[in-house]
Amino acid sequence: MDALRSRAQSCTKCPHLASTRKSVVVGVGDPAARLMFVGEAPGAEEDRRGEPFVGAAGELLTKILGAMNLSRDQVFIANVLKCRPDTPGQPTGNRKPTPEEMATCLPWLEEQIRIVQPEVLVALGATAVEGLLGKTVGIMKLRGHWQTYQGVPVMPTFHPAFVLRSETPAVKRQVWEDMLAVMERLSLPISERQRGFFLPRAVG
Ligand code: URA
Repeated sequence: MDALRSRAQSCTKCPHLASTRKSVVVGVGDPAARLMFVGEAPGAEEDRRGEPFVGAAGELLTKILGAMNLSRDQVFIANVLKCRPDTPGQPTGNRKPTPEEMATCLPWLEEQIRIVQPEVLVALGATAVEGLLGKTVGIMKLRGHWQTYQGVPVMPTFHPAFVLRSETPAVKRQVWEDMLAVMERLSLPISERQRGFFLPRAVG
């Protein structure tokens, strides 16, 4: 992974992204992790710090991992795109990676998956699903349903940024059910308390 990291640092396959990025955000965590998370692309904070999922969405991902009794260094976290999508003429904001950018960057992620050899992949949001599986079926339909990437089970779930925007208990529970399925697949211990997270409380 270290060798890949240093090769990726000098990638200029997307000249427009190479000239606007502050960092190439390769990935973080255990390169021999059993569980690997794949997101969309670095945002401003990730670009600044050179680490995926360290902004607001990242804080939520870290909390989700905590609820699973996992830490960021026990899993591997990467994105489909390693560079922040540029937003010419706009000082702030994010944009979705284009299909061309995703196709150009995908070999890095593919190589990372070959190195990590995770037992389970989690695709965070529609763009991660599109980049990883080439599927443009809506995330609303796909989430919670196991997919396969080169023989590795993939659980599509909502992107933490979507969870933050929607803030509804039902969406939180859906993501949590997806994580329970992941934990079951990995035979991780699950307490009764964990099973009940984000369930509506019985009244009376
Ligand atoms: N959103 C992503 O998809 N990836 C990040 O690294 C940060 C936010």
